[in-house]
Amino acid sequence: MSDRPTAPELTGPIFDDPFYAGDPFPHYARLRAAAPLVWHEDPAMATGGIWVASRYADVMAVSRDPDRFSSAKGILAFEVGVEYPTPPTMMHMDPPEHTRLRQATATGFRPSRIRALEPGVRERVDRLVGALPAGGSTDIVHGLAAPLPLMMICSLLGLPEDDWPTFLEFSDAAIPGAAPLTNERRAQLMADSERMQREHIARRRTERGEDYVTDLIEAVGNDGEPLGLTDDEIFVIVNQLFIAGNETTRNLISGGMVALAERADQWALLRDDPSLIPTAVEELLRWTTPVVAFMRTATGDTDLGGERIHAGDPVLLLYASANRDEAEFGPDADRLDVTRRPNHHVAFGFGPHVCVGAALARLEGRVVLEALTGRFATVEVAGTVDRTPSGIIAGVHRAELRFG
Ligand code: HEM
Repeated sequence: MSDRPTAPELTGPIFDDPFYAGDPFPHYARLRAAAPLVWHEDPAMATGGIWVASRYADVMAVSRDPDRFSSAKGILAFEVGVEYPTPPTMMHMDPPEHTRLRQATATGFRPSRIRALEPGVRERVDRLVGALPAGGSTDIVHGLAAPLPLMMICSLLGLPEDDWPTFLEFSDAAIPGAAPLTNERRAQLMADSERMQREHIARRRTERGEDYVTDLIEAVGNDGEPLGLTDDEIFVIVNQLFIAGNETTRNLISGGMVALAERADQWALLRDDPSLIPTAVEELLRWTTPVVAFMRTATGDTDLGGERIHAGDPVLLLYASANRDEAEFGPDADRLDVTRRPNHHVAFGFGPHVCVGAALARLEGRVVLEALTGRFATVEVAGTVDRTPSGIIAGVHRAELRFG
């Protein structure tokens, strides 16, 4: 036993659990009220447990300070104690190593690039929304939320977008708990995915394309000098885009639409005044918080939230809880309000790792809402809403909605 404050009934479960497929928010509220930081004991972890930060202020304090709280020892709770010979993703790096890959990645997501994508997003959204039935029940995940982000990532990378169902499987395999797969199947899919991505990178080395992989090959640093990324580095970035850019945006759209389908008044507000849509996207990001939590590790002894954190202690950043913190969002933090302003949610993280694809996710969210509110007067839940039992991704596998 340690002298750290514990509250097992509030901090568990940390990993994948049916708990996450239900309504974890009342649980988070009790956790926030209990203490800023609580130690979750877990003898299976190399560290004997993990700190859980549930309040907005502490999640921000850790996120903005990579010197005190490192990403290099893993960002997911099940990675506690893992040692990587080379970082598996850019998210697993600290400055200054991280800065190099971040510069290269951000080039393809600069505002002018994202603005230029809008007609392509709109064309795909119009096609997908046009195929949704009026009156009948339809699964919004397979009809819209899953294909759109994958189509956009394929198009960015220069891969055939009609293959999106294959890429959906690849990406599901990479996130524990995201899909019911055996370990063998998961390993096979991840190997297939890596082979396909490496073949594509090799092709672009010899055959230039108008795509993001070519951008990465030709990327220059802030000093104008070529970054000279290796194939391994490019693979790390591309692989991350597939996963980071797809599950998350999918669940913003599916979870966001379920939330609106449950609140006719909020849908009516958007129908009456489409200029509210960008504000609504921010509120749906806050409300759904597609990434439930990431982790950092203390680089030395330090204080946080009134607790003494020791070198090597892992800290779980519970974004889903921080985004409902009354201290930041006021007494109505637990109410969906598409007119909410200001709204400094932490759905995209904060600090040096803040989501590089945020502008693309916002663009997709906005165009989807514009198309749906433009076409349908009403939306309601018509059947099953099947959520993912994952402590990483707040996912929706299936959501039967009826548009009218
Ligand atoms: C609603 C959609 C999205 C959400 C909620 C989301 C969430 C996040 C969060 C919380 C982080 C911070 C990681 C950390 O601090 O360790 C992050 C980083 C990242 N995201 Fe997103 N993301 C979304 C969409 C996208 C898209 C569309 C892309 C690209 C196509 C993308 C690519 C990335 C990458 C590459 C990073 C790593 C940045 C770094 O380590 O410097 N994300 N995202």
